[in-house]
Amino acid sequence: MTTDSVRVAAESPSRTARVAAAVARHLRAGDVVLLHGELAAGKTTFVTAAAAALGSPDQVTSPTFMLAQCYAGGRIPVLHLDTYRLTDVAEFRDLGLEEQLAESVAFVEWGGMVSGELPEHLAITLELAGTDSRNITITAHGARWAGVPGLIESELPAGTAA
Ligand SMILES: Nc1ncnc2c1ncn2[C@@H]1O[C@H](COP(=O)(O)OP(=O)(O)OP(=O)(O)O)[C@@H](O)[C@H]1O
Ligand SMILES: [Mg+2]
Repeated sequence: MTTDSVRVAAESPSRTARVAAAVARHLRAGDVVLLHGELAAGKTTFVTAAAAALGSPDQVTSPTFMLAQCYAGGRIPVLHLDTYRLTDVAEFRDLGLEEQLAESVAFVEWGGMVSGELPEHLAITLELAGTDSRNITITAHGARWAGVPGLIESELPAGTAA
């Protein structure tokens, strides 16, 4: 049985926040988390909760119209990116984020475009399962993340009530 991909049910935004907090406990500088899921799937909701769990005192806003935002002041700086308005991966390279990627935890919404560029990452896929319900799949990509999804799942609070 592989522990490199787990799927959890999040029956409310606060349950999604708890999953994000469980993920955040495993994050350190240089880590990359790519978020997948359609419009309003909950990607920004997830990043907001993860940044809060990392101690960021800054207000997280959707970077869809900003491309990149950095939240400092927490346990680790958080780099929040959204590739929705990028046309191709060359535009991502042109942002020249190497230094910031090395010293921060990066969360990338619409992360598919940069998955080849950032192969070592934790993937979070949010799927709509109802008005307030989402299925969240957490998948390891690369040696850094081996076994981590299973650990996260085992650390989630029991029960699904929010
Ligand atoms: N279980 C849930 N988890 C996360 N969000 C939920 C859930 N149930 C309802 N929602 C709602 O769905 C919306 C998700 O919006 P959010 O901005 O997080 O999505 P997004 O994936 O970032 O969208 P976009 O593609 O526009 O960036 C919020 O209004 C949130 O309250
Ligand atoms: Mg968003």
